[in-house]
Amino acid sequence: MSRLLRSPLLQTPRARVARVTRAVTGAPSPLAGRTVLITGATSGIGEATAYAVARRGATVLLAARREEELDRVQRAIRDEGGTARRYIVDMTDPGSVDGLVDVLLGEHGAVDYVVNNAGRSIRRSLELTHDRFHDFERMMAVNYFGPVRLTMGLLPAMRAQGFGHVVNIVTWGNQIRAPKFAAYIASKSALDVFGRILGREAFFDNVTCTNMRVAIVRTPMIGPTAAYDGRGESAEHCAERVVRALEDRPVTVDGAFGTFYAAFNVVAPRLSDLVMAVLHERQPDSAAARRGAVTTR
Ligand SMILES: NC(=O)c1ccc[n+]([C@@H]2O[C@H](COP(=O)([O-])OP(=O)(O)OC[C@H]3O[C@@H](n4cnc5c(N)ncnc54)[C@H](OP(=O)(O)O)[C@@H]3O)[C@@H](O)[C@H]2O)c1
Repeated sequence: MSRLLRSPLLQTPRARVARVTRAVTGAPSPLAGRTVLITGATSGIGEATAYAVARRGATVLLAARREEELDRVQRAIRDEGGTARRYIVDMTDPGSVDGLVDVLLGEHGAVDYVVNNAGRSIRRSLELTHDRFHDFERMMAVNYFGPVRLTMGLLPAMRAQGFGHVVNIVTWGNQIRAPKFAAYIASKSALDVFGRILGREAFFDNVTCTNMRVAIVRTPMIGPTAAYDGRGESAEHCAERVVRALEDRPVTVDGAFGTFYAAFNVVAPRLSDLVMAVLHERQPDSAAARRGAVTTR
């Protein structure tokens, strides 16, 4: 019985009470003094999350490919009085990810929190993808194999210390299944499933995972998609929700539309396909997707 009570079973109600208590007493965030690794920390959601986490008193471990951008974010955190270290990694390169795991375990022992945020997207219909199998391969490389390799490398130390939390930044597309995003959404859905099963297998070691199904966020990633101009939440707003996911450790973070569409997909799957088929026809591939350039959202 005590094993059950110490487990994450009552994590959500406990976190809600703790949040109210912190608001009343001014007690520090549970992130204070902890290590938080954020991949893709040089831009958009990852960068904004790095600042927000640093303000909670965590030691932020910034990871991405671009050294000068990592330096910039690290400097900005230090200028505000926060603590940050930076690590160069290419999430599509297994050797680079293994190297990062070795360095992190050597410098910090177990990492307490991981935000699997680094990622890319492709918006291109299947019709234009027949001779582009590499679109599927590179989506899996950055959005699935990279974060899974990193998480698997850090997981044994988390389990051994009896604490760890992973936040996977996935997409509302996992619930909606939007046309033209097959390669992207399939890779993010794979990460979503991995995270959910991790949370089940590591349950009694108090290692948990949140799949955060993010909608449209105004970051450089959506820049090339004119249809998203002026839409979505800011990176800073999204970052506050990531912080909440780190502090409260829910199983999923969903938006209202994603939840609605997931139910629609179950209750009336053909009708839901019809709606998406109409949208697919009305919103053609971009000129960049037709040319074969990488298009992101
Ligand atoms: N923006 C949206 O509307 C939206 C919606 C749903 C989900 N998401 C997800 O949110 C996450 C963050 O996206 P964002 O919108 O903040 O995009 P962003 O501004 O383009 O940032 C992407 C980050 O990922 C890093 N990155 C990309 N490829 C990498 C690689 N191979 N190895 C290491 N780092 C890599 C980039 O850093 P370097 O270039 O320095 O490596 C950058 O810091 C992504 O996983 C995305 O799929 C975004």
